[in-house]
Amino acid sequence: MSLVLVIDDEPGIRSVLHDILTDEGYSVICAADGIEGLTLLKENPVDLVILDVWLPNMGGIDVLKQIKEDYPDLEVIVISGHANIDMAVKAVKLGAFDFIEKPLSLDRLLTICRNALHLEELRKENTNLKRSLFVEDEIIGQSPGIRTVKERIRQSAASDAKVLILGDNGTGKELVAREIHRQSSRASGPFVEVNCAAIPDTLIESELFGHEKGAFTGAVSRRKGKFESADGGSLFLDEIADMSLTAQAKVLRVIQEQLFQRVGGETPFNVDVRLIAATNKDIQEEIRSGRFREDLYFRLNVVPIRVPSLRERLEDLPLLADYFLKKFATGSGVNERPRTLSGGAMQVLRDYSWPGNIRELKNFIERINIMSDEESISGETALYYLGEQQVSSAHTDLRDYLDLRLNEAKELFEKRFLETKLQECGYNISHTAGTLGIYPSNLHSKIKKYSIEIKK
Ligand SMILES: Nc1ncnc2c1ncn2[C@@H]1O[C@H](COP(=O)(O)OP(=O)(O)OP(=O)(O)O)[C@@H](O)[C@H]1O
Ligand SMILES: [Mg+2]
Repeated sequence: MSLVLVIDDEPGIRSVLHDILTDEGYSVICAADGIEGLTLLKENPVDLVILDVWLPNMGGIDVLKQIKEDYPDLEVIVISGHANIDMAVKAVKLGAFDFIEKPLSLDRLLTICRNALHLEELRKENTNLKRSLFVEDEIIGQSPGIRTVKERIRQSAASDAKVLILGDNGTGKELVAREIHRQSSRASGPFVEVNCAAIPDTLIESELFGHEKGAFTGAVSRRKGKFESADGGSLFLDEIADMSLTAQAKVLRVIQEQLFQRVGGETPFNVDVRLIAATNKDIQEEIRSGRFREDLYFRLNVVPIRVPSLRERLEDLPLLADYFLKKFATGSGVNERPRTLSGGAMQVLRDYSWPGNIRELKNFIERINIMSDEESISGETALYYLGEQQVSSAHTDLRDYLDLRLNEAKELFEKRFLETKLQECGYNISHTAGTLGIYPSNLHSKIKKYSIEIKK
């Protein structure tokens, strides 16, 4: 539902416009002067402004200039009396969408509103298209692990099934979510992302489901939630395991009943949304420890997709490095020809643990691209820019153990071995345990025994 802001000093005009626009299905908020209008704009996601050019305090033209400066894409329709038609023309020159004369012709007003909102929609769609064409990465890789991911994306895109994407930091979970949306029949609908970890517990409900005017202090107008914004498209619940148990219960209810209510509202809404969720946490572990609801997990986990860490698919490293080298070469404009990695540099990259996965690789390549002037990146340069993160504990020597008793030596070895393996697997417990062929509970007790630090 679009939100229209009416700025007019005449109460009569405000109330007429309010009623007509509400009847047409718009949400409407009103301000009696420019200053109040600008304040409301800051606090509300307004889609269209109707502005009287003749205003007390701050003149309409100044208000228009300010709006166009702060929100260049927001359309403004100007109302003018017969006596100040010159100002209306000036307003259009300054970027107003159109003007309408008093006495107001309702048909003309509604047509102009519809056209302005349509233009805004097109503009948004255009930005989204551009973003998907130029900014996003393709999913690069030929390894069996990434092939499975691509296959799962293809299968799940064909249906409306819920998808749960698991994987460590920076492995490409968001990229996978966007790709599912792009390949699905909802591709022309919105892709709405919610970072559950970033929203305070007290606001999550209003963020997801929206609120009615006056639902709580600060709710000055009705507001759409993410579920509503994603209508006809996909809703990506990122970092889902960071959501509080209370919020989890609410999301579960929406999934079960297919209905939700705005905070402070009664009317149940039904939206057509495809859910895609992701987390970098060990979800089984979160369930065991009571931090994640098992019933919600089963609901979301219809199609599970596990994105492998970079260490698990080192054979993709040359392809990925090459892709990013090309990407940053053309992006920066400084060096036309993409740099290459020497054999030595490639070996350094292979030996590295990549706790930050693809994101870390991407950042690393961007960094050497800016900082180094070598055409073919040497091993030393690569090592230097990987910096302190370089694994050193991996290279231990038998001499470290020679003064110890057998039992002590075994234990020291076990500790170092586990530390290295955990680091390699990005400190994902179940994954490390899997690689080692032991139970996660067993790995837990060893971590405790040796006081191994789990870094995140
Ligand atoms: N297979 C891939 N090919 C090309 N680029 C990739 C690939 N995987 C990830 N990237 C890029 O790496 C960066 C990190 O990916 P993304 O944000 O999707 O990771 P994430 O798993 O959501 O990370 P986090 O857990 O930190 O949220 C992005 O810039 C993404 O475009
Ligand atoms: Mg992410």
